[in-house]
Amino acid sequence: MNLHVRPGTALRGKIDLPGDKSLSHRAALFAAIADGESKIDKFLVAGVTEVMLGCLSALGVNWRLEGNTLYVSGKGLSGLTSPEAPLFCGNSATTLRLLAGVLGAAGIPAILDGTPGLRSRPMNRIVSPLQQMGVNVSAAGGGAPLEFHPTTGRLKGIDHTLSVASAQVKSCLLLAGLRAESEIILREPALSRDHTERLLRKSGIEVWSDQAPTRDGANEYITRMRPPDELHLSPLNVSLPADISAAAFLLVAALITPGSELVICDVSTNPTRTGLLDVLAEMGANLRVETKPDQGGEPVGDLVVQASSLHGIEVSGPTVVRMIDEFPAFAVAAAFAQGVTVVRDAEELRYKESDRIQAVCCQLRQLGADIQETRDGFILHGGELRGGLVQAEGDHRLAMSLAVAGLASRDEVSVRGAEIFRESFPGFLDALTALGAEIWAEE
Ligand code: S3P
Repeated sequence: MNLHVRPGTALRGKIDLPGDKSLSHRAALFAAIADGESKIDKFLVAGVTEVMLGCLSALGVNWRLEGNTLYVSGKGLSGLTSPEAPLFCGNSATTLRLLAGVLGAAGIPAILDGTPGLRSRPMNRIVSPLQQMGVNVSAAGGGAPLEFHPTTGRLKGIDHTLSVASAQVKSCLLLAGLRAESEIILREPALSRDHTERLLRKSGIEVWSDQAPTRDGANEYITRMRPPDELHLSPLNVSLPADISAAAFLLVAALITPGSELVICDVSTNPTRTGLLDVLAEMGANLRVETKPDQGGEPVGDLVVQASSLHGIEVSGPTVVRMIDEFPAFAVAAAFAQGVTVVRDAEELRYKESDRIQAVCCQLRQLGADIQETRDGFILHGGELRGGLVQAEGDHRLAMSLAVAGLASRDEVSVRGAEIFRESFPGFLDALTALGAEIWAEE
């Protein structure tokens, strides 16, 4: 599919977005290993969660979707059954890494696999600590497929330092740790999203985090979990907040398109996810959060945003982790900002759905940006974009960001391979159209 976007029309209105992707994955998984029936409202129905649900079916879990409400009959960890075929995780690293933790705890034989893109992503970061905990798992070549062999008895606790802050790795090890005999201690260089910890705490499991200086003077973020003697998770009855990572595209769209004014309702404002809001505010964005009551143990707010004149900024350190999925959208905002934007400490972006440093630089250059790739980020001299034809490179977030760039470019932007946006935000096109954008698809 090619998406075409014509510049010029302001975006106006109030909009509801789909449920958060990270929370949808976790809610489905927690419900599967809970005892009893769960109900999850505002579940994200999209490519990445369809593969998670497919894997849960293959593990013997019954669920049904009514619109975007997901009902799950929990089996308990010990009720999961060994799948007959490899579990296909598509292109979703969250599905694979979180399921790896659950399979480690369940101790059942299974194979986790995915697309060639997913197979190329680094899995040693979970395989090696899982093995240390006593999980019988192997990954030829350090990537998927991951093969789990039966393990009996309890796993060992672990004190593990993650070389890169990662909620997927942290969640995998916490989930495996549900069957450990002693404490799980995970040390990260910055605090990654803490949705798993919040859900564990909601289930009565002792999880806490603190911060401590390391020997070399840097800071370390430590998450500890005391595994329960016996695991009984209560079923969930939650309504999920909207995804801030989906809201990011509309926020940037409104900021760069003159005359725009938007309200994005009930967005997750978990502080481990709001790096982009802080950075945009520092760039001069007219943006505010109207706090709403928490949903499912997560902070929520309406985002109110108006078109603004932005200026360049430097982004580095722990902020990078708090906006790790937002760099493609952020780069588009920076391309329309006056002055220089520098991103550092973001090498992890090279291991996402695409090498996002290379892909963002290459595609924005196609649209006329003055952007230079560095080892761990980029340097961008902002101002304006010309427009033109670009490629989504199999990356949903890149596809949507490039489409948004077309709202404020001099000429039309066409994004080839744009159908990939359905992986995380199937309503993207309809949302922009409803707000007044001139955007259309050509199959
Ligand atoms: C996610 C964590 C992030 C993020 C991904 C979703 C999660 O990955 O990029 O889209 O739900 O835990 P890392 O934690 O590996 O950086």
